[in-house]
Amino acid sequence: MKFHIVTYGCQMNERDSDAIAALLERHGHESAQGEADAELLLINTCSVRAKAEHKALGKLGLTTAAKQTRTSLRLVGAIGCMVERLGPRLFDKLPRLDFAVGARRLASLPFVVERALAGPDPILAVGVNPAETGNMAEMAGHAETGVSAYVNVLYGCDRGCSYCIVPAVRGPEVSRPARDILAEARELAARGVREITMLGQSVMAYGRAQAVWESNDRSPRGFAEPFPRLLEAAADIEGLWRLRFASGHPSGCTPELARAMGSIPAVCRHLHLPLQSGSDRILKLMRRGYDIGVYRQAVERLREAVPDIAITTDIIVGFPSETDAEFEATRAFMEEIGFDNAFIFKYSPRPGTPAAGWPDDVAAEEKLRRNKILLQDQQRRTLAGSERLVGQTIEILAEGVSARNAERWCGRTSGNRIVVFEPDSAVRKGDLIRVRIVRAMPQSLLGEMVGIVRAGPRQPDAEGKRNSE
Ligand code: SAH
Ligand code: SF4
Ligand code: F3S
Repeated sequence: MKFHIVTYGCQMNERDSDAIAALLERHGHESAQGEADAELLLINTCSVRAKAEHKALGKLGLTTAAKQTRTSLRLVGAIGCMVERLGPRLFDKLPRLDFAVGARRLASLPFVVERALAGPDPILAVGVNPAETGNMAEMAGHAETGVSAYVNVLYGCDRGCSYCIVPAVRGPEVSRPARDILAEARELAARGVREITMLGQSVMAYGRAQAVWESNDRSPRGFAEPFPRLLEAAADIEGLWRLRFASGHPSGCTPELARAMGSIPAVCRHLHLPLQSGSDRILKLMRRGYDIGVYRQAVERLREAVPDIAITTDIIVGFPSETDAEFEATRAFMEEIGFDNAFIFKYSPRPGTPAAGWPDDVAAEEKLRRNKILLQDQQRRTLAGSERLVGQTIEILAEGVSARNAERWCGRTSGNRIVVFEPDSAVRKGDLIRVRIVRAMPQSLLGEMVGIVRAGPRQPDAEGKRNSE
């Protein structure tokens, strides 16, 4: 069947969608050209804020309705985090939905599709089925490989921040065996991937929990390495030039991690380190496990090891009982740290989390006001950071044609800033190139090509000869 996947939510969902595409292809299905010619349509959902769920539910409402008029569309399925949260209630909301598979059961998708084709009954797969845990190895495939790819290292989360739905939908923290992670990274490098981003909710906690998805034993296969060692091992892989990882937590910013970041050339000089709030009282209510002193120390340690490291963050405004003074403390702390970029979110109560039991007492307009202020502050700060790079010659990984302007290409700096440039005839996707920054724009930089530092993979040219490597 021709399938198409619409993906909402975070990088983990993007990674899951890619793994599912590879899994479906292995089971004889093929990727459709787009949503319009799909026979099997999957909506990968997110539950992190109410708005994310509304978006996914709206899309599911439209697509399940479209089935009546578009006969080529045979199955519509909901997958991912919202399925884990809503379970059977999804079918009350969406009577024409064919099946729903939760984020922890995605490996069973091909069998669910088969059953859905065989009969009219809606099918639900959520939670963990012990008989299927071995199937997590099925989720190691990649359908599309460009210059850069995601690799899961840590599933789930054990932190239990008081506002967060993720532990409920993704389950407890489990580290994947290092062996499997490195094998996946090696395979990607062999296919021409030059940059991987290792994913986990609190990624530096990697290795703390035993790996139990693939096997319940404690044999070497079930053992996970501490995170800095995993970075070292991945950096040794032939052809992998850049390593990134997300998300960080101050507790993971140990001297060993700082040393690894400072001494392994492949590790990019960027860390996404969500702060959430700059008020110690709010951080405590959020159950984040640090105060601003600890956060500040983590940043100092990183900057000592990697002086020009870019630090980006997530902030929640309007948490229950957040006063104006506490909001201003967040604002001031963001200025003190000087974040390179930040995502600002309005607090959204998630049913079943501890914070959902507390009065959501910051008015919607006030949340919006706080959100706008932090966004404006950050835009100014991000632009100032970009302006400091004007005139410098910087290394970027060429990713290919820019989404906004077909004449130009784009790439990213080690610090994760986007650079657009006019490619010369020699440059290929996956090349590490040097560009001189000529202008700073609100969300990107304009650069001029100086030269190729390291040539990436080369496709056979028109005569069928390899022109490099
Ligand atoms: N594991 C990561 C973040 C996962 S969710 C971490 O802890 O850093 C991504 C971001 O969504 C969070 O950092 C937080 O800023 C935001 N978020 C999570 N739950 C939220 C909620 N209930 N309301 C508003 N924003 C939320
Ligand atoms: Fe959610 Fe906290 Fe885990 Fe991040 S660390 S996923 S915010 S519980
Ligand atoms: Fe990601 Fe949303 Fe799930 S943020 S982990 S897709 S709830």
